Amino acid sequence: MKKMLSIFTAMVILSSVFTSCIPYAANDPRFSMIAAEPVEKIVVGFAQIGSESDWRVACTNSVKKELSAANGFDLKFVDGKQKQENQINALRSFVEQNVDIIVLSPVVESGWDEVVKEINDAGIPLIIMDRKTDIEGTDYYVTWMGSNFIEEGEKAGKWLIDYMDGVNRGGDDINIAELYGTIGSSPAIDRHQGFLDALAGKTTFVRDVEARPNFKIVMSESGDFEQANGKEVMKSFLAESREKNIKIDVLFAHNDNMALGAIEAIKEAGMKPGEDIIIVGVDAVKGAFVAMAAGEMNCTVECSPLLGPQLAFNCKAIMEGKTLEKITYVIEGVYPQEVAAKELPNRVY
Ligand code: AHR
Repeated sequence: MKKMLSIFTAMVILSSVFTSCIPYAANDPRFSMIAAEPVEKIVVGFAQIGSESDWRVACTNSVKKELSAANGFDLKFVDGKQKQENQINALRSFVEQNVDIIVLSPVVESGWDEVVKEINDAGIPLIIMDRKTDIEGTDYYVTWMGSNFIEEGEKAGKWLIDYMDGVNRGGDDINIAELYGTIGSSPAIDRHQGFLDALAGKTTFVRDVEARPNFKIVMSESGDFEQANGKEVMKSFLAESREKNIKIDVLFAHNDNMALGAIEAIKEAGMKPGEDIIIVGVDAVKGAFVAMAAGEMNCTVECSPLLGPQLAFNCKAIMEGKTLEKITYVIEGVYPQEVAAKELPNRVY
């Protein structure tokens, strides 16, 4: 934000100084002229990933709401349509426009080095939001804000172990199908790892997890975080299960939208989702609560997309020269089927 008094404003102030002996009313137009002088907005370029899920749409809405003109922002928003190339082009255009701050939600972890160097060379503060890059060190960004995806995977694993213990199946061989997120993306990599860590009883963030070597991921394929793809991949899992005579006991979906797609496929195959196949997702979107309330899904691990207020706060702090935490994680919960009907009216995304 380049805050400078315009020559015109300066003249108005000077004239009010030199004419201070002339009385004026509280609504003196000279003051309304000063007040009406538009304060320069904070120009923020945001390279969003796309609109692949309810989570992503809620995240975009939250950012647009908080980084509004009324709140003092000029938001330059680009939807990358799930393509890294589009995001890189957006980042380069933000550099060209010399925006005040750049915000990046990187679709995948790798391939950002060159464009991030260009942003750093231009001296534009960079905020990384939601996902991570694999660039070494932390000097290249001002602050990172989002969810702890490893913890989310661990929570899903722990919930599953506790649930199976609760229905006296904790000692059985449990076959798990995994609907993987976007390949190369941090939520997919980390949720997978966190889930495996829980099954191995080697968690970092979640306590009291007992190893289950008898719980195995027997199928895993990417549905790119999209509902329609979740359905197609689940159809292929079910076909494989029939061909190879492997019973699928559990579906772990890296997000709720893929789980919701899978539920359609399971129903079309004449099975009961939530009963014949236990389903755990991530995000805690409204659709998951509706499915859980109907008994068709068993658990969702929360991943909050409501990042707008914190982003607005961080942008203002950067413009004021304040130092921010390098990393801030959102605090999130776990919602099993039992609480779904009660929680549904409280869900905002
Ligand atoms: O990066 C967050 C993930 O991206 C959400 O879990 C998923 O729904 C979204 O598409």
